[in-house]
Amino acid sequence: MNVRERFAEVFGRPPEGVWRAPGRINLIGEHTDYNDGLVLPFALPMGVSVAAARRDDGVLEVRSLQAGGETVRVPVAGGSVSGWATYPVGMAWVLHEYGIGGASLLVDSDLPQGAGLSSSAALLCATGLALCDLYGVEVERPELARLAQRAEWDFAGVPSGLMDPSASLLATAGHALMLDCRSGLSSRVPFAPEEAGLTLLAIDTRAGHTLADGGYARRRAECERAAGLLGVAALRDVKDLAGALGSLRDPVLRRRVQHVVTENHRVEAAVGLLRAGAAAELGALLTASHLSLRDQFEVSWPQADAVVDAATRAGARGGRMVGGGFGGSVIVLTAADRAERTRAAVEEAFAARGWAAPAFLAATPSQGARRLA
Ligand code: GLA
Repeated sequence: MNVRERFAEVFGRPPEGVWRAPGRINLIGEHTDYNDGLVLPFALPMGVSVAAARRDDGVLEVRSLQAGGETVRVPVAGGSVSGWATYPVGMAWVLHEYGIGGASLLVDSDLPQGAGLSSSAALLCATGLALCDLYGVEVERPELARLAQRAEWDFAGVPSGLMDPSASLLATAGHALMLDCRSGLSSRVPFAPEEAGLTLLAIDTRAGHTLADGGYARRRAECERAAGLLGVAALRDVKDLAGALGSLRDPVLRRRVQHVVTENHRVEAAVGLLRAGAAAELGALLTASHLSLRDQFEVSWPQADAVVDAATRAGARGGRMVGGGFGGSVIVLTAADRAERTRAAVEEAFAARGWAAPAFLAATPSQGARRLA
C-alpha cells in the first residue's frame, strides 16, 4: 500500500497531494557551510514523501509510517513535541507567519536514518513544500531552504548549516549543486559518474550518528572563535592560511582553520575538474578531504577510516566521510570495472574487525524536491 492509500486509512479521507524531498550526499565541502563557504552536494534517489491535506481548525496532525506510534497533534501556531515530529511541527511553525493553517500529514521515508544522508532536512523540505502548496503560499526555494534551517535551529536545537535543505530543494538529476553559503547563490555542475566510466559507491557504515550530541556544535563554536581571533567575519575570509596559522596559538583552532580553508579550495578544484570533464581526478580530492576531516577537523570515526583505507588499497580513485561526522556514511569513487573489487575489500575489512556489515546505497545524482501527485 502506498502513502496515499495509507493516508486515507489513517485519516479517513484522501490526501490532497503527495510531496517528496530527497536526502543528499555532499560530494565535497564538509564543515564549510556554516563558515560561509562552498559546498557541492547532490540529491539522492532516496527521500521522504509526505501525503497531506488541509484542516480548517488550525491543528497540525502528523504521523510516520516508519517511526510508528501515535498521531501527534499540536496547534500550528506552536506546541511542544519531541523526536522525529519536531521537524514537521517546526516547519509548520516557521511557515505559520506566511499564512499556512492546519493540516494532516503522513510521512513515509526510504532514507536510512542516522546515516548522515540528511533525513531530517528531507523531512523539513517535504513538509515545507506540502504546506506551501496546500495553502497557495509562494516561497522561492532558496528562501524555503533558509526557513527549513531556521526550523531546525529553533525547534530541534541543531545549529546546522544551509547545505542540507538547499541540496534537497535545489538539486537536479545528473548534477551536483555548487552552493555559496554566504551569498546563497548556487549553480549546477554536471556530475554523471556512470557516463565517465566511474562508480560512486555510498556506504552506510552503520556506526551511530547524531548531530544533537554536541560534537557538531563544538566544532562550530571553535570555528567562530578562530574567526573572531583572526578578525574576520567567517573562516571563508581567510586568504593567507600560513599567516593565519602563524597568528593562532591554540593548536586545536589551528587545525580547524587548516581544514576549513583548504576544504574551500578543494571545492573550487572539484568544480573545475567536473566542468573540464575530468571526474576521475576527483578521487584524490576526496581522499585529501577525508584526511583533513580525520586529522585536522577530527570528526571521522574508525569505520569511515577503514572504508577509505580498504577502498584505496583495492584500487579505488579515492573516498571520504560525508556529513557532520562521528558516524554515518562514506563515498568512494572508483572506475566502474573496479567497483566490485572495492566493495568486496570494504566488506572484508569490516568482517575482519567484527563490525556489522556496511550497507551499499545507490548514489546517483537525482532530482530535487517536488510534488508527486
Ligand atoms: C551536517 C550539517 C550540514 C553541514 C555538515 C558538515 O550534515 O547538517 O549543515 O554542516 O554537517 O559539512
